[in-house]
Amino acid sequence: MEKSERETVEVINTELVFPSQTNHYGTIFGGKLLALMDMTGGLAAMRFACEEVVTASIEALDFKMPIKQGDIVKLIGRVIYTGRTSMVVKVDVYKIGKFNDRKDFCCRGYFIFVAVDANGDPKAIPPLKLLSEEDKKFWGIGEAIRKRAIERQKTKGD
Ligand SMILES: CC(C)(COP(=O)(O)OP(=O)(O)OC[C@H]1O[C@@H](n2cnc3c(N)ncnc32)[C@H](O)[C@@H]1OP(=O)(O)O)[C@@H](O)C(=O)NCCC(=O)NCCS
Repeated sequence: MEKSERETVEVINTELVFPSQTNHYGTIFGGKLLALMDMTGGLAAMRFACEEVVTASIEALDFKMPIKQGDIVKLIGRVIYTGRTSMVVKVDVYKIGKFNDRKDFCCRGYFIFVAVDANGDPKAIPPLKLLSEEDKKFWGIGEAIRKRAIERQKTKGD
Protein backbone atom coordinates (compact mmCIF):
# COMPACT_ATOMS: atom_id res chain seq x y z
CA MET A 1 0.00 0.00 0.00
CA GLU A 2 1.24 3.53 -0.91
CA LYS A 3 2.17 5.57 2.15
CA SER A 4 0.85 9.13 2.35
CA GLU A 5 3.12 12.17 2.06
CA ARG A 6 4.80 13.47 5.19
CA GLU A 7 6.45 16.79 6.09
CA THR A 8 10.17 16.78 6.69
CA VAL A 9 11.67 15.99 10.07
CA GLU A 10 14.51 17.98 11.60
CA VAL A 11 16.64 16.70 14.48
CA ILE A 12 18.93 18.94 16.52
CA ASN A 13 21.74 17.52 18.60
CA THR A 14 24.04 19.62 20.81
CA GLU A 15 27.33 18.18 22.07
CA LEU A 16 30.23 19.32 24.21
CA VAL A 17 33.61 18.20 22.78
CA PHE A 18 35.58 16.07 25.27
CA PRO A 19 39.32 15.22 25.30
CA SER A 20 38.50 11.63 24.27
CA GLN A 21 37.16 13.02 20.96
CA THR A 22 40.20 15.14 20.07
CA ASN A 23 43.65 14.55 18.62
CA HIS A 24 47.00 15.74 20.02
CA TYR A 25 46.37 19.22 18.56
CA GLY A 26 43.21 19.42 20.63
CA THR A 27 40.86 19.43 17.63
CA ILE A 28 38.09 16.91 17.09
CA PHE A 29 38.90 13.83 14.98
CA GLY A 30 37.13 13.96 11.61
CA GLY A 31 35.81 10.45 12.24
CA LYS A 32 34.27 11.47 15.57
CA LEU A 33 32.46 14.37 13.95
CA LEU A 34 31.35 12.07 11.15
CA ALA A 35 29.90 9.67 13.75
CA LEU A 36 27.94 12.50 15.40
CA MET A 37 26.65 13.58 11.98
CA ASP A 38 25.69 10.02 11.05
CA MET A 39 23.81 9.65 14.35
CA THR A 40 21.95 12.96 13.95
CA GLY A 41 21.07 12.22 10.32
CA GLY A 42 20.04 8.67 11.18
CA LEU A 43 17.65 9.89 13.88
CA ALA A 44 16.05 12.35 11.42
CA ALA A 45 15.62 9.52 8.88
CA MET A 46 14.27 7.10 11.49
CA ARG A 47 11.76 9.62 12.82
CA PHE A 48 10.66 10.54 9.31
CA ALA A 49 10.23 6.96 8.11
CA CYS A 50 9.01 5.58 11.46
CA GLU A 51 11.22 2.59 10.65
CA GLU A 52 14.70 1.36 11.49
CA VAL A 53 17.29 2.74 9.05
CA VAL A 54 20.85 1.94 7.96
CA THR A 55 23.44 4.25 6.43
CA ALA A 56 23.85 3.35 2.76
CA SER A 57 26.16 6.12 1.60
CA ILE A 58 27.93 9.30 2.70
CA GLU A 59 28.73 12.15 0.33
CA ALA A 60 32.26 13.66 0.51
CA LEU A 61 32.71 16.02 3.48
CA ASP A 62 34.73 19.23 3.80
CA PHE A 63 35.64 20.47 7.24
CA LYS A 64 35.71 24.28 7.10
CA MET A 65 36.71 25.20 10.63
CA PRO A 66 38.55 23.43 13.46
CA ILE A 67 36.44 22.32 16.41
CA LYS A 68 38.37 22.16 19.67
CA GLN A 69 38.11 20.46 23.04
CA GLY A 70 35.56 22.34 25.15
CA ASP A 71 33.69 23.71 22.11
CA ILE A 72 29.96 23.17 21.78
CA VAL A 73 28.74 21.77 18.47
CA LYS A 74 25.22 21.91 17.20
CA LEU A 75 24.19 19.39 14.55
CA ILE A 76 21.00 19.78 12.53
CA GLY A 77 19.75 16.86 10.44
CA ARG A 78 16.91 17.31 7.96
CA VAL A 79 15.34 14.91 5.48
CA ILE A 80 15.51 16.59 2.05
CA TYR A 81 14.75 13.85 -0.48
CA THR A 82 12.92 10.55 -0.52
CA GLY A 83 13.03 7.63 -2.93
CA ARG A 84 11.00 4.44 -2.48
CA THR A 85 12.99 3.16 0.49
CA SER A 86 15.87 5.63 0.75
CA MET A 87 16.21 9.16 2.11
CA VAL A 88 18.84 11.86 1.65
CA VAL A 89 19.48 13.73 4.90
CA LYS A 90 21.40 17.01 5.09
CA VAL A 91 23.41 17.47 8.27
CA ASP A 92 24.81 20.91 9.14
CA VAL A 93 27.36 21.42 11.89
CA TYR A 94 27.88 24.69 13.75
CA LYS A 95 30.19 25.70 16.56
CA ILE A 96 28.09 27.73 18.96
CA GLY A 97 29.09 30.18 21.69
CA LYS A 98 29.09 28.86 25.25
CA PHE A 99 27.94 32.11 26.76
CA ASN A 100 26.69 34.08 23.75
CA ASP A 101 24.69 33.67 20.51
CA ARG A 102 27.74 33.18 18.27
CA LYS A 103 27.20 30.51 15.60
CA ASP A 104 29.95 29.51 13.14
CA PHE A 105 29.27 27.15 10.25
CA CYS A 106 31.75 24.23 10.28
CA CYS A 107 30.56 21.54 7.94
CA ARG A 108 27.70 20.15 5.84
CA GLY A 109 27.22 16.52 4.93
CA TYR A 110 24.67 14.53 2.94
CA PHE A 111 23.84 11.02 4.10
CA ILE A 112 21.69 8.40 2.42
CA PHE A 113 19.72 6.14 4.75
CA VAL A 114 17.59 3.17 3.77
CA ALA A 115 14.61 2.03 5.85
CA VAL A 116 14.79 -1.68 6.62
CA ASP A 117 12.53 -4.37 8.03
CA ALA A 118 13.42 -6.92 10.70
CA ASN A 119 15.38 -8.96 8.11
CA GLY A 120 17.40 -5.94 6.98
CA ASP A 121 15.53 -5.75 3.68
CA PRO A 122 14.62 -2.30 2.28
CA LYS A 123 11.15 -1.13 3.26
CA ALA A 124 8.93 1.53 1.64
CA ILE A 125 8.79 4.96 3.29
CA PRO A 126 6.37 7.88 2.97
CA PRO A 127 7.13 10.38 0.19
CA LEU A 128 8.39 13.78 1.35
CA LYS A 129 5.86 16.61 1.20
CA LEU A 130 7.42 19.79 -0.21
CA LEU A 131 5.95 22.84 1.48
CA SER A 132 8.38 25.69 0.83
CA GLU A 133 10.73 26.98 -1.86
CA GLU A 134 13.57 25.85 0.41
CA ASP A 135 12.14 22.31 0.49
CA LYS A 136 12.09 22.33 -3.34
CA LYS A 137 15.66 23.66 -3.57
CA PHE A 138 16.99 20.95 -1.24
CA TRP A 139 14.94 18.27 -3.01
CA GLY A 140 16.89 19.08 -6.19
CA ILE A 141 20.19 18.81 -4.32
CA GLY A 142 19.13 15.52 -2.72
CA GLU A 143 18.10 14.11 -6.08
CA ALA A 144 21.52 14.95 -7.55
CA ILE A 145 23.31 13.38 -4.56
CA ARG A 146 21.30 10.17 -4.86
CA LYS A 147 22.07 10.02 -8.59
CA ARG A 148 25.79 10.50 -7.90
CA ALA A 149 25.76 7.76 -5.23
CA ILE A 150 24.15 5.30 -7.64
CA GLU A 151 26.59 6.20 -10.44
CA ARG A 152 29.53 5.87 -8.03
CA GLN A 153 28.38 2.39 -7.03
CA LYS A 154 28.20 1.31 -10.69
CA THR A 155 31.71 2.53 -11.51
CA LYS A 156 33.43 1.24 -8.35
CA GLY A 157 33.40 -2.46 -9.14
CA ASP A 158 33.66 -5.12 -6.43
C1 LIG B 1 21.62 -0.31 2.18
C2 LIG B 1 21.06 -1.70 1.93
C3 LIG B 1 19.92 -1.99 2.93
C4 LIG B 1 20.52 -1.72 0.52
O1 LIG B 1 20.06 -3.02 0.27
P1 LIG B 1 19.90 -3.57 -1.25
O2 LIG B 1 19.30 -4.91 -1.19
O3 LIG B 1 21.16 -3.34 -1.97
O4 LIG B 1 18.80 -2.60 -1.74
P2 LIG B 1 18.29 -2.17 -3.18
O5 LIG B 1 19.30 -2.33 -4.25
O6 LIG B 1 16.94 -2.80 -3.35
O7 LIG B 1 18.10 -0.61 -2.93
C5 LIG B 1 17.23 -0.11 -1.95
C6 LIG B 1 17.39 1.39 -1.89
O8 LIG B 1 18.66 1.70 -1.37
C7 LIG B 1 19.33 2.57 -2.24
N1 LIG B 1 20.75 2.26 -2.15
C8 LIG B 1 21.30 1.03 -2.09
N2 LIG B 1 22.64 1.15 -1.98
C9 LIG B 1 22.92 2.47 -1.99
C10 LIG B 1 24.11 3.24 -1.91
N3 LIG B 1 25.32 2.68 -1.80
N4 LIG B 1 24.02 4.58 -1.96
C11 LIG B 1 22.83 5.18 -2.06
N5 LIG B 1 21.64 4.52 -2.13
C12 LIG B 1 21.70 3.18 -2.10
C13 LIG B 1 18.75 2.28 -3.61
O9 LIG B 1 18.93 3.37 -4.50
C14 LIG B 1 17.29 2.06 -3.27
O10 LIG B 1 16.66 3.31 -3.07
P3 LIG B 1 15.10 3.53 -3.40
O11 LIG B 1 14.31 2.38 -2.84
O12 LIG B 1 14.76 4.81 -2.71
O13 LIG B 1 14.96 3.61 -4.89
C15 LIG B 1 22.17 -2.81 2.07
O14 LIG B 1 23.14 -2.61 1.07
C16 LIG B 1 22.82 -2.80 3.43
O15 LIG B 1 22.28 -3.34 4.40
N6 LIG B 1 24.04 -2.20 3.53
C17 LIG B 1 24.74 -2.10 4.83
C18 LIG B 1 24.22 -0.92 5.61
C19 LIG B 1 24.97 -0.75 6.89
O16 LIG B 1 25.16 -1.69 7.64
N7 LIG B 1 25.40 0.49 7.15
C20 LIG B 1 26.14 0.82 8.33
C21 LIG B 1 27.61 0.95 8.03
S1 LIG B 1 28.34 -0.59 7.63
